Amino acid sequence: MYQERIVSGMRPTGALHLGHYHGAIKNWVRLQAEYPCYFFVADWHALTTHYDTPEVIEPNVWDMVIDWLACGIDPAQAVLFLQSRVPEHAELHTLLSMITPLGWLERVPTYKDQQEKLTDKDLSTYGFLGYPLLQSADVLIYRAKYVPVGEDQVPHIEFMREIARRFNHVYGKEPGFEDKAKEAAKKMGSKKAKLYAQLRTRYQEQGDAGALESARALLEEQQNLSVGDKERLFGYLEGGGRMILVEPEVMLTESSKLPGLDGAKMSKSYNNTIALREDPESIKKKIRTMPTDPARVKRDDPGDPAKCPVWQFHLVYSDDKTQQWANEGCRSAGIGCLECKQPVIDAVLAELGPIRERAQKYVDDVTLVKNIVADGCEKAQKLAQETMREVRDAMGLNYS
Ligand code: TRP
Ligand code: SF4
Repeated sequence: MYQERIVSGMRPTGALHLGHYHGAIKNWVRLQAEYPCYFFVADWHALTTHYDTPEVIEPNVWDMVIDWLACGIDPAQAVLFLQSRVPEHAELHTLLSMITPLGWLERVPTYKDQQEKLTDKDLSTYGFLGYPLLQSADVLIYRAKYVPVGEDQVPHIEFMREIARRFNHVYGKEPGFEDKAKEAAKKMGSKKAKLYAQLRTRYQEQGDAGALESARALLEEQQNLSVGDKERLFGYLEGGGRMILVEPEVMLTESSKLPGLDGAKMSKSYNNTIALREDPESIKKKIRTMPTDPARVKRDDPGDPAKCPVWQFHLVYSDDKTQQWANEGCRSAGIGCLECKQPVIDAVLAELGPIRERAQKYVDDVTLVKNIVADGCEKAQKLAQETMREVRDAMGLNYS
């Protein structure tokens, strides 16, 4: 029930590139072996900025899932799904909107930033303002513990924590809460109930964070408690009401050390990307024409790797020996730039070869991809429905 689940999503922006791979997907592949992971395509979020060109979304959805699979996201380990196929996200979003102060949304830093940046679009819509609230529903509906995201998403996670806290505060109160919590504790057996009580006292009276952690772990282990009783015990531990929604934590993904071909952040809008399934000839050409330290006009002009984006690629792709060779060769003009780029070309091609190969199976048979996603949607929906039952119940909406 309160397993340490992970949820993360990505807007379908088209074919993924090396920046996505080194910045996020590689991390997801690692995480799927360690936690129950829910990875989804945030197609509704794509609509917040592409509401006038919705036709671009569908092909991007399948392309992105193919890239995930090709990179090693394994449907036998992680649940892959599509946001719009689990409409419970929208229901939770609506219910959460009732307790969301407008000021909280307006104060999310990405709101004004993006609105100012994307001036070619009218973004004075509710969908755009409500972006972080929909994102909150995405995560809270799975009662996830961790959300692996980059630095830019931290304010959104902070926001969803506040929403969860407010929800629990408003709807977690029930008549006779304390008695119910004590009754629930007894159901663990007298030894564990006593341990729970001791840990709770240690946390509440001495602020002992270790005691809080131990008590939580104790609750997480309990198999024979109902969902409602677990919520009570989690809430009682911290001195509030029932903890219906879980406050998720950021799991910060180190930002990709790989810049774009021009040294700026790799991004499709800067036209400086290498796509994961790009044709090898095109990749070679792009790297061969990458800008280098402008001081190296002629072959025997020495250069400074610090001023060259190719060097950043060496730092990601080359071993110490090759790095030393490039560094010294550059500073002494011992090697030419094309020579310096060759190991990078080889390494990128070696990395992407297996990805391109694995993708082929899915490109040839999109039904396979759609089946994987349908299966994931079903799994995700089951969990989402469980949470929604609790949420409706807490809000007094369980009449029929
Ligand atoms: N806003 C995220 C981004 O732009 C995408 C996203 C939507 C997301 N819902 C999410 C990420 C839930 C993590 C969890 O990258
Ligand atoms: Fe860049 Fe290598 Fe040329 Fe130096 S030798 S400028 S590091 S490409």
